[in-house]
Order: sequence, then C-alpha cells, then structure tokens
Amino acid sequence: MRYKVSSFIMIPSILSIIIYMLYTFFESYNRVNYIVHPITIFFFIVITILLFVLESINYLIFKKRLESLSVDERIKILDENEGNYFHRLYRFIFIEQNNEKVKKIDHGFDGIIELDNKLPVWWVHLFLITIVFSAIYFFSYLFIDYSNPYKEYDIAYKDQLKKIEIFEKNTPQVTIENASFKKDFINNGKTLFEENCSTCHKSDGSGSIGPNLTDDYWINIKEKDLFKNIYYIIWNGSENNPTMRAFGKSGEIKGNDIEKISSYVYFINKNKKSSEGKAPQGKKNLDWINETKQ
Ligand code: HEC
Repeated sequence: MRYKVSSFIMIPSILSIIIYMLYTFFESYNRVNYIVHPITIFFFIVITILLFVLESINYLIFKKRLESLSVDERIKILDENEGNYFHRLYRFIFIEQNNEKVKKIDHGFDGIIELDNKLPVWWVHLFLITIVFSAIYFFSYLFIDYSNPYKEYDIAYKDQLKKIEIFEKNTPQVTIENASFKKDFINNGKTLFEENCSTCHKSDGSGSIGPNLTDDYWINIKEKDLFKNIYYIIWNGSENNPTMRAFGKSGEIKGNDIEKISSYVYFINKNKKSSEGKAPQGKKNLDWINETKQ
C-alpha cells in the first residue's frame, strides 16, 4: 500500500482550512461569533474523535478480511486501496462510474432504445451539495441572524451611523471666527440652501416669507463684514423674528455647512442683483456694497 493519510487527520485539516477561510470572510461582516463559537469547537473535537474511532475499527475489519482471502483477491483489494485520500477521492468521483454497464430502456412503441447513462458521480455530488446548501441557508434564514437581510441592513445602518459620529468627532467644524467666503463652496452651498432655506427665501434668495437676500438692504446688521453677518444670522437666528431660527446654535446645521451656505448667500448677494424679488427691508449698508471677496 502506498502513502495514505488517515481520514481523522485529513478531514479535520480540511475543516480547519474551511473554518479559517470562513473566519476571514466573516470578519469583514463582524459575524465571527458564529464561527469561533464553543459549539463549533465542540463539534470539531467530537468529529475528530469519532473519525479516529471509525478509522481504527475499519482498519481492524480490513485486516481480518485480508486474512481470510486468497492471494489473488488480496492483491486486487490492496490495489483498490492504493493511493492517498485525494487519489481515492478522485477515482471515486471521476472513474468508478465507467465500470458500470449502461442500461438500455426500450420505449417499445417507436422502436427507439434509450441509453440510460448513469449520471456522472461528480454531478450527483454537486446536486447533493446544493440540497445541503439550500437547507443550511433556509434554516439559518429562518432561525438565526445569519443571511437575514433585515438584520444585515440593521447592522450596516448602525455601522454607518457610528462612522458618521466618528467622522464628525474628528472633523473640526468652523466657527464664525475662522469661517470665510470660498468660491468652491458656492455649488454645495446652493444645494444646502435649496434644502434648508428656499421655503422662506426662494431658491434664488429673492425672498418670500423671509427677506430678499440679493438686495443691499439688511434688517440684521451684527457684524462688520457681510459674509460674517450672514454666518452670524444663520448661526444665531434673528432676534426680532423667531421665524428665522438659530440653525447653527440648535445643531440643525453644522458650522462647515453654514460656511458653505453663507458662501452661496454672499455670492448671490454680490452677483444676482435684480429689480425682481421681495421689496427691500431694513437699512442699506454702504460698507458692504463696495466690499468684494475673492
Ligand atoms: C421658516 C422660514 C425661514 C427659513 C426656513 C429661513 N429663514 Fe432666513 N429669514 C426668515 C425671516 C422671517 C427673516 C427675517 C428676520 C428678521 O426680520 O429679523 C429671515 C432673515 C434671514 C437673513 C437676514 C436678512 C436680513 O435682512 O437681516 C438671512 C441672511 C437669512 N434669513 C438666511 C437664511 C438662510 C441661509 C436660511 C437657511 C439655512 C434661512 N434663512 C432659512 C425666515 C426664514
């Protein structure tokens, strides 16, 4: 007999590799608990012990059987058992079915005889594996979190929230002191303005419930600089009129986004002057009319 690895070594080794692969695969999904679980390890050990016992019994039976056979038969049987586990597995899957005689089915009425070839063993095994796979999938879907899309969604959703929280913690928000007009922010600011402000100021800032933001008249003059004044009002709201609420103070809009919105409002105030829109309210501030920023 040539080199042969016992199944109680072979099978646990293959299992270990599979478990290791699953482990690395599930690590990215935070599902490692299902694999490195006391029950998994317990079954792993039990399977190994059982395999060892089976192997020993098999070997004893095999030896007894050999003793009761003639020399020719003994050689034949030893030949069949030649090779290691993979070699025998290979023969079992691809070769052994060829020895079978092909059955013929007589249809009778049309005289056609059909060859009833046996399905290849590898094909049958593949089919059986799909059944096992679907059973595992079916039960795990019904009874545990694994492969349940709702639970998966929940986990992914919480993960995202956590990431956002960490991101916000690590991203310093600008304040009125260091905020400044930036051309690059105009487009982003426009989107944010449309989402948060257009209901009262119209999307072009020409005003409806709230005042026209594109003219030179201002009700609230709190800062020396126009950009900062806009930032101030979005952060603190209006003292005169609570309809213009404190978006920044209340936490509704973060400092970085207020900087973007302010850039947009500053931009439209400087560039989109038209006679249309809501009638001027408040005072004209001459300092701001001549002010320009890059
Ligand atoms: C619910 C309606 C409403 C919303 C939403 C709103 N505003 Fe206002 N806004 C007002 C009103 C009303 C005033 C006038 C306040 C006053 O009389 O002092 C105002 C005033 C302002 C002013 C000062 C104008 C001035 O002449 O003093 C600015 C700047 C401004 N809003 C920007 C914004 C921005 C930017 C947003 C979005 C983040 C926004 N507003 C959202 C209603 C609103």
